[in-house]
Amino acid sequence: MNYEIKDCIDAGTEYCPCSLSETGDCILCSHLQGKDFCDCTNWKGVCIFQEYDWNNNKAKTLRKVSLSKIINKEILDENLVCFTILCTHKLVQELSIPGSFIFVRNPKSNGYFDSPISIMETLPEENLVKIVIELKGVKTKSINLLEENDNMAIKGPYWNGVLGLKNINKCKDGISLLIAGGIGMAPMIPVMRKLYSSGNKIVVVIDKSNYKNIYTKKYLEMCNADIIECTLLANSDLSIEAKEIIKQYENKVNLIYCSVTDILISKILEFSDDNVNFACCNNAKMCCGEGVCGACSIRYAGHIVKKMCKVQIDPRYIFKGRRLL
Ligand SMILES: Cc1cc2nc3c(=O)[nH]c(=O)nc-3n(C[C@H](O)[C@H](O)[C@H](O)COP(=O)(O)OP(=O)(O)OC[C@H]3O[C@@H](n4cnc5c(N)ncnc54)[C@H](O)[C@@H]3O)c2cc1C
Ligand code: FES
Repeated sequence: MNYEIKDCIDAGTEYCPCSLSETGDCILCSHLQGKDFCDCTNWKGVCIFQEYDWNNNKAKTLRKVSLSKIINKEILDENLVCFTILCTHKLVQELSIPGSFIFVRNPKSNGYFDSPISIMETLPEENLVKIVIELKGVKTKSINLLEENDNMAIKGPYWNGVLGLKNINKCKDGISLLIAGGIGMAPMIPVMRKLYSSGNKIVVVIDKSNYKNIYTKKYLEMCNADIIECTLLANSDLSIEAKEIIKQYENKVNLIYCSVTDILISKILEFSDDNVNFACCNNAKMCCGEGVCGACSIRYAGHIVKKMCKVQIDPRYIFKGRRLL
């Protein structure tokens, strides 16, 4: 089947129906798009329209901001910090799937400083989550002013940090090729652990980028991963080394997962066999995470707009028909 399957990451969760349902903009439900027939293509066991009706024709409440204590702060490299944060048990459990992320900020800053940050690890027995932040600009630097025992403002759970989740979930007892660069190593960890727990052999291609060490080495060893170090980008193209590795593995693996920049994702997609299962990190710019602000919108031919904080699609359809104007 070679057609685009569009899904909403929040469909069927306690956050569905969301604000989009109140304005005829629901991603999945044809009734809540203003049509008078039922055309639900991605049934999640919950009727969004009925949920809306039962909720007095209103959207469910938005995710709330909470203050969570920083239990540990570790400097991993220059401009790279790992925070371990104490959260509620419910939130930690909800963040234990690949693609999970939260918005974080220094509580002294206002909501404009919210940064989407992926979950690298959850420890549900201790109610802890670990995140790694690369210090770049005003938002991440203000988070870095926080120290151990300070509170961090966090909002979540959000789940659309990985595109192609279905492709990851169906991989069993094979070999999976994971390609990660720089800060992309952190969101790769939950994907790798999921694949490893489904009996897959893990091969990881790592571009350390500006970092001195592979800061996720402990997790790679836990999953018995074969590690190949490689520079991924050369002269604005996929390096020869990276091309050789992909050619060597693409017919043997059940998945290629990429946790790299959009330019590299598109180059890897172009270069690799069309029949290989693909998944990647979601590099959209996100501000609200609720489908409202429009920061994450990507425009496509035919006046189609996809809000990437919500829309879960196969990565092969991210760049197809995309409009820059
Ligand atoms: C789903 C998701 C998960 C992410 N996970 C991590 C992570 O685990 N660790 C990490 O260090 N970074 C992660 N990021 C990127 C992180 O959100 C940005 O680096 C951060 O917001 C930069 O803010 P700044 O003010 O420090 O830098 P700026 O100087 O504002 O920007 C630096 C770079 O970050 C990008 N950026 C700025 N704001 C956003 C935004 N709201 N959303 C996305 N990109 C933005 C800019 O385009 C620019 O390329 C993730 C982004 C997304 C969308
Ligand atoms: S981040 Fe606000 S609409 Fe997607």
